Amino acid sequence: MGPGWLPPVLGLALVLAEGSQAQEQLPRASHNLNWSKFSGFWYILAVASEARGLLPGRDKRKLGASVVRVQKPGQLKVVLAFNRSQGCQAHSLILRRDGKKAVFRNAPRGVEGFRVLSTDYSAGVVDLRLGRAGRATKTLLLFSRRDTSSFLSLKKFADMCRVLELSDALTILPKDASCAHTILP
Ligand SMILES: *[C@@H]1O[C@H](CO)[C@@H](O)[C@H](O)[C@H]1NC(C)=O
Ligand SMILES: *[C@@H]1O[C@H](CO)[C@@H](O)[C@H](O)[C@H]1NC(C)=O
Repeated sequence: MGPGWLPPVLGLALVLAEGSQAQEQLPRASHNLNWSKFSGFWYILAVASEARGLLPGRDKRKLGASVVRVQKPGQLKVVLAFNRSQGCQAHSLILRRDGKKAVFRNAPRGVEGFRVLSTDYSAGVVDLRLGRAGRATKTLLLFSRRDTSSFLSLKKFADMCRVLELSDALTILPKDASCAHTILP
């Protein structure tokens, strides 16, 4: 893999960011999450995003992937791979926990928030905020250990998209793992 840093997506996110921060009633799994158990390789089966630069045109989409590692307490390394318009790209980020809060950030690199809303460690919903605090774009990602989703995990994802007003942006990615597998550990 060749994880570069994020400027293309995040630069774009900064430009596009103008999120309305509605009061959201969502679960926050991150507080009592076992991050060692959450670590490892995940397929990204579905995406719902306000950040328009994130996905390529319809015919160029493939499954995304993520590798999550606990570097030390309060610090995660997160790699994200997507087939974007410039091709299959992997980005690597170091995120730090915001004190005792259930959120990880890297503000200088444009990641305002990374939280797990819900997980049973075989699937999960990740809430990613890109851009500047207060005007970040919302992105929900459906993580799965397998390259196919269960009906229940997809339903949970769709429900959370609805709460975050991202239903119109929900995209289920085609089952092509060629980009995802470029970051297999
Ligand atoms: C967290 O998960 C790891 C890996 O599955 C396990 O070894 C550890 O016992 C768990 N820790 C707690 C506090 O449950
Ligand atoms: C993204 O996927 C499409 C369809 O498979 C492919 O033609 C394109 O080359 C991919 N992007 C790159 C450059 O990897």
